[in-house]
Amino acid sequence: MKQNFISVFILLSTLLMVNAAPYQLNKRATKFIACPVKPTPPLFNNIILSPDPIVKGSNVTITASGSISVDIPKNIDVLAQVAFLDKDGILLADLDFVEFCSIEGINCPVKAGTNFEIVLNDIQVPDSNDLDAMTVAVRNNNAGVFFVCSESSDE
Ligand SMILES: *[C@@H]1O[C@H](CO)[C@@H](O)[C@H](O)[C@H]1NC(C)=O
Repeated sequence: MKQNFISVFILLSTLLMVNAAPYQLNKRATKFIACPVKPTPPLFNNIILSPDPIVKGSNVTITASGSISVDIPKNIDVLAQVAFLDKDGILLADLDFVEFCSIEGINCPVKAGTNFEIVLNDIQVPDSNDLDAMTVAVRNNNAGVFFVCSESSDE
């Protein structure tokens, strides 16, 4: 009985979310711009946050998609990573990262020009009043090379 109730609740919530989606798009709070690293890596084409805006001390799901002009190799050093930063660009928590090539739906090597999408679940947003920005990146952690990187912007 309790489970039925939960299923109905989830169904209703899903329907409500689908209904609300067009409105949420209009008031999407978070825009993404280039990361402040040199040389400037390409941005993701699109990043969807859920919830948007992110909530301090809660989890966020990040769906990031893009296509870039170089191959992303099959290499365990290639990580999808999320950083939460203060206004000086200092990390507020340990980097959240996952091996890029092991993400569901990703088939490495990802050839140049191929569209790819990563979903990062249960990313913990630091419970900090200093939270100013977040970055989402795919990076060769060993070589320090960013394949793609986007940083949130208030403007
Ligand atoms: C938030 O994410 C962490 C892992 O990053 C997980 O252990 C925890 O259960 C999640 N919390 C909720 C409420 O989903």
